[in-house]
Amino acid sequence: MGDVVKRVLSGIQPSGQLHLGNYAGAIRQFVEMQRDHEMYIFVASYHALTSSRDAEALRANIRQVVIDYLAFGLDPAHCSLYAQHDVPEVTELAWLLGCVCPKHMMDKATSYKDKIARGLSASIGLYTYPVLQAADILSVDPDVVPVGKDQVQHCEITRDLAQAFNRHYGEVFKVPDYRLRDDADVVPGIDGEKMSKSYGNDIDPFMEEKPLRKRVMKITTDSTPVDQPKDPQSCTVFRIFRSIAGRDDPRTAELEARYRAPGLGYGEAKQSLFELILDHFAAARQRRSALTDDPGYVEQVLKDGAAAARARAREVVDRARAAVGL
Ligand code: TYM
Repeated sequence: MGDVVKRVLSGIQPSGQLHLGNYAGAIRQFVEMQRDHEMYIFVASYHALTSSRDAEALRANIRQVVIDYLAFGLDPAHCSLYAQHDVPEVTELAWLLGCVCPKHMMDKATSYKDKIARGLSASIGLYTYPVLQAADILSVDPDVVPVGKDQVQHCEITRDLAQAFNRHYGEVFKVPDYRLRDDADVVPGIDGEKMSKSYGNDIDPFMEEKPLRKRVMKITTDSTPVDQPKDPQSCTVFRIFRSIAGRDDPRTAELEARYRAPGLGYGEAKQSLFELILDHFAAARQRRSALTDDPGYVEQVLKDGAAAARARAREVVDRARAAVGL
């Protein structure tokens, strides 16, 4: 007998252009896993409503995330790609889960506090965001959820909610694991904080060459002079480089050695990062311009993906409804 194929689910919010953090933390894992897993990868459109009030921008961003998924190498033949709002079973499940969710579980969620601190309005949607995320995840009975480090708490809440529900109603939900890349790092943005669209510190690997180079040159560095050795671990340029090339890549070791010896200027390190980005994303950049000219294809991908996800989600919701007495 062959190995049982594991099922995978993950998603990304359409809050603007995807960036190097999304790629290194999440999308690269999706692409690596798609050959030998059953994949459900979605656009978290309902989650984006917790911070978006611009309908036109949201519509465009949803489409853009799908194009970017495809450009980065997700293949609809191996992976169901869908928009969260095309699978209404997810919101039904969110209600059922919300009814077993103790309020204190939401009170301790750090992403809510972070977002409020950054000025987002304290809506009920934002507050219960992790319940909706648990519903996304549990809706297809996945074995594993590949994410970046900042999503670990949400994955743990999902496990807690699935277990709480199962305690009340019997074994309804499979309790999924999450998966970080082995060399997982939170990718820093150009200011050294976590790279995030909403912090305005992100790097978009699909930018035109000139603005991309300008963006990379803007990365904050310290003022260690050229003739002195530098600490790669605390340098944002090096950390971004390592998260794209990989820890074990010879180019990472080579750049690290250059930091540790005198003579490396930060301008030079930034130029190496710029060239790495162009090289690493050359095929993705090409695919993306072809996809942008083919809206019909993107529509079809979303339609097929939603049909596959809905079939799974219906089974799960029916099971949950029956368990609670509906
Ligand atoms: P989002 O849209 O902020 O990010 C999507 C994925 O990218 C990863 N990521 C990063 N990884 C490393 N360094 C960074 N600077 C960085 N920024 C983002 C995230 O860890 C994530 O894996 N709540 C989720 C979306 C979501 C979801 C889900 C994810 C909704 N439902 C169900 C998984 C499963 C979010 O806002 O991710």
